[in-house]
Amino acid sequence: MEDPVSKKEELKRKNRNPKIKSAVATLVKILPPPGKVLDLGVRDGFSTGELSKAGYDVIGTDVNKKFIKYARKKGYNVIHDDIMKTKLEGYNFDIIYGRHVLEHCAPTDEFFKQCAKVLTTAGVVFFIFPLEPKRKPGNHKVFFPTLEDFPGSELFTEITFCNSKDMGIIPFSDVKGEALYIGKLK
Ligand SMILES: C[S@@+](CC[C@H](N)C(=O)[O-])C[C@H]1O[C@@H](n2cnc3c(N)ncnc32)[C@H](O)[C@@H]1O
Repeated sequence: MEDPVSKKEELKRKNRNPKIKSAVATLVKILPPPGKVLDLGVRDGFSTGELSKAGYDVIGTDVNKKFIKYARKKGYNVIHDDIMKTKLEGYNFDIIYGRHVLEHCAPTDEFFKQCAKVLTTAGVVFFIFPLEPKRKPGNHKVFFPTLEDFPGSELFTEITFCNSKDMGIIPFSDVKGEALYIGKLK
């Protein structure tokens, strides 16, 4: 696991931050604040700060305690939670924002089931994930070569599903394509 405060990570973060800003700007356009947002998989917490600045009431989570410790030190509102066995049932979030997290969670149908537990009625998920020809060595648990390979979820009605570039989102640097899935709880 990478040290969230290492020099290498610092460089990566500088690259990542404009991409996170463009993802948050898209969320604001589609689902403007106010709203209670779960920022899923916060890593260093930058997105939690951006969502908060945009006007959402936001709580960030991560399965990695080291990231949570780091993000908390930076002053972000974050708590430790594994979405695959979440303790946040009843929090009634309006939106789950998750950038590059879905591919770390398997099986996908169970992931959506857990997400549904923490949402309010007709809550919305906003997920950005890479389109990859094969599983990336390392920590990706699922992979989707094309948009057609993504199963979606029977619990959610699809609102938007496209290449994230089509929504003006700056893609993750090392992926050829990236998907944006927005779904509303049925
Ligand atoms: C590739 S990073 C993405 C970080 C950030 N969202 C971004 O846009 O750069 C994936 C993050 O998801 C977290 N994560 C992976 N599985 C998770 C789970 N089951 N529950 C919560 N967080 C998880 C990882 O610890 C990591 O911080």
